[in-house]
Amino acid sequence: MRKIFLIFLVAFVYNVKAWPHVRRSSPMEILLPKKIHTLSECMQVTSEDGVFTYRKVLRKSSRFSDGLHFMEVEPNESHVCGVYFITDPDKVVEIEIDFMDVSCELGGLLGFVDGWELNGEYFPGIHDHELNLENRIDEFCDKPFAYKKKINRKKKFISHQNAAVFQYKIPIQGAFAITVRYLHNPKPCNIMAEGVAPYYLLQNYGTSRNCTVTATFPAVVSIEGISVGGNEADVNYDCDQPNAFDKVIVGGSSGLDSHHLTKATTICGKSQIKGPEQAIFCGVTSIRLDSSGKYNNKVIVALRPADETDISLATAVCDL
Ligand SMILES: *[C@@H]1O[C@H](CO)[C@@H](O)[C@H](O)[C@H]1NC(C)=O
Ligand SMILES: *[C@@H]1O[C@H](CO)[C@@H](O)[C@H](O)[C@H]1NC(C)=O
Repeated sequence: MRKIFLIFLVAFVYNVKAWPHVRRSSPMEILLPKKIHTLSECMQVTSEDGVFTYRKVLRKSSRFSDGLHFMEVEPNESHVCGVYFITDPDKVVEIEIDFMDVSCELGGLLGFVDGWELNGEYFPGIHDHELNLENRIDEFCDKPFAYKKKINRKKKFISHQNAAVFQYKIPIQGAFAITVRYLHNPKPCNIMAEGVAPYYLLQNYGTSRNCTVTATFPAVVSIEGISVGGNEADVNYDCDQPNAFDKVIVGGSSGLDSHHLTKATTICGKSQIKGPEQAIFCGVTSIRLDSSGKYNNKVIVALRPADETDISLATAVCDL
């Protein structure tokens, strides 16, 4: 009896394992044609989803007849190109490799970056991401003879925040197609600001994380509401003391990493009244929430691009 039961159990477990994953997409989604974008600029910033394709061929005459529209580009020197994806603050970026023909031998390389990379600096900063830098970057290409092996599981990457980069270096010839989707992020921490949302909410959910809103432009910043640290009474600009770890830092830098930002203001305490505007004249503007984990910190930030008329509001100026 016991043996029979065991066989049944094994069969049951096996069956469960053999079940395919439930398709989450609706039937309509399968019927609708996917948006197809042909990559033509070496550096591109986009919030679009759908399929992104790129193809470089040696001769202009050869064409694919499988329905995908590839861009035909003349061979050029080998530089790294990138598609910079940015989506809503409460979403993450999913990139799936549908097709690739990028030979390592021809110097080709594809790469996924969990965050944005610009001139060797990263968003989120290397100290602010839950993964170390090595695990945030994935580079790959087709090795010789490996093409004969059938790869039945597609490579898929998911970022930890609303920004990610897909890099490609195809010096001679090659092609790829990727599908990009934006998925919900229930607990956003680091946010790349697009400049269209009126407010950004930063919170630590009671953990000891540091979270940052970063804009890649000089910006006018105001705190619309704050509840940070133990001081419940009022808002305070004198938070840079050793015993007050929890604070909001407003500042700027020339690179993406907010860890080395030029501090303009440090704020903590509690207020539901809109604070004064301040202008950060730096290539990159950041609002950082440093949290010890002792408090449930929250800050609502408003952000708009700064122009010359905002110079009287300047609290930080960097070499632009
Ligand atoms: C090659 O790349 C350079 C720099 O990216 C560009 O200026 C030039 O026009 C390109 N040449 C061709 C033939 O596409
Ligand atoms: C948060 O940032 C501060 C410096 O701003 C640093 O000392 C601390 O280690 C960071 N905490 C975490 C959890 O990364």
